[in-house]
Amino acid sequence: MAVIRLGYVHVRVTDLAQARQHYQETLGMDPVHEEDGRVYLKSWDEDDHHSVVLEEGGVGLVKFGYKVTGDGTLDAIETRARSFGASCERMSKGDNAGVGDGLRVTLPSDHVLELYSDVEYLGTNVGKLNPAPWPRGLRGIGVPRINHALITTEDPALLERFFQDVLAFRPAERLVAGDEDSDLVGSWMYCGDQPHDIAFVKGANGKLHHFAYEVDDWSALLRAGDVMSMDDVPIDFGPARHGITRGGTIYFFDPSGNRNEVFSGGYRTGPDFRPITWTMDQAARGINYTHREIDQAFLEVVT
Ligand SMILES: [Fe+2]
Repeated sequence: MAVIRLGYVHVRVTDLAQARQHYQETLGMDPVHEEDGRVYLKSWDEDDHHSVVLEEGGVGLVKFGYKVTGDGTLDAIETRARSFGASCERMSKGDNAGVGDGLRVTLPSDHVLELYSDVEYLGTNVGKLNPAPWPRGLRGIGVPRINHALITTEDPALLERFFQDVLAFRPAERLVAGDEDSDLVGSWMYCGDQPHDIAFVKGANGKLHHFAYEVDDWSALLRAGDVMSMDDVPIDFGPARHGITRGGTIYFFDPSGNRNEVFSGGYRTGPDFRPITWTMDQAARGINYTHREIDQAFLEVVT
């Protein structure tokens, strides 16, 4: 009974044609469905129906979905979310193309989180029988899969408690301004064995800082940077290494200004992992271990 992974991120984009160019041609995702000004996209190594939804009109996060196991998890989460005081409603098959019934929760940070176990299986682009390590004909970066999202919240301690108590996530790394939980500035939390499946830092409620794609390694990251340069993609920073998670990173923007990341590596966690603490005087190293500095725009630009 558990949350499995980040399933999808649904974002608004100002211009659907420009966004398609970015997500399909530069990142290399495949469109799987289109309706009502929305495009549903899947990466080549993902099994489920879609992992990104682009909706024309505005900018920023509409909602995101996490896939859960089907053994009564949704009922258990609903009970815990209600006793936490979060508002919940059941979502119906068809609310999201390819996704079945589920649970829609408004987080204490005002973000809309959808939880579901029933989703149409499309399979990866290499199949499950004697598969090639990657499919021929990838476009652009050829991202294999999405990995995590980072959102902002006015009350990181409250949101950490929600993810811990309601969704059974654990913190892998915590950025603190003092010794107490009340001074929590950010938390990187996991539900499986990654360093993070969700992260949040102090900021405005309801906002998206970035969502990330996983790539194989440092050389894939550098190649991703090459493609971004070929396609004039605005880069925020990187390639660099994070202190927090130890992952490799490049942050960049889609044409609407939503921040994306390509992320590689990072250590493994698990049920016995003890959280790592970062103090504010070392926050720059935590975010960008290579350069030990953070641009103000990195802290302030959210959508
Ligand atoms: Fe990230």
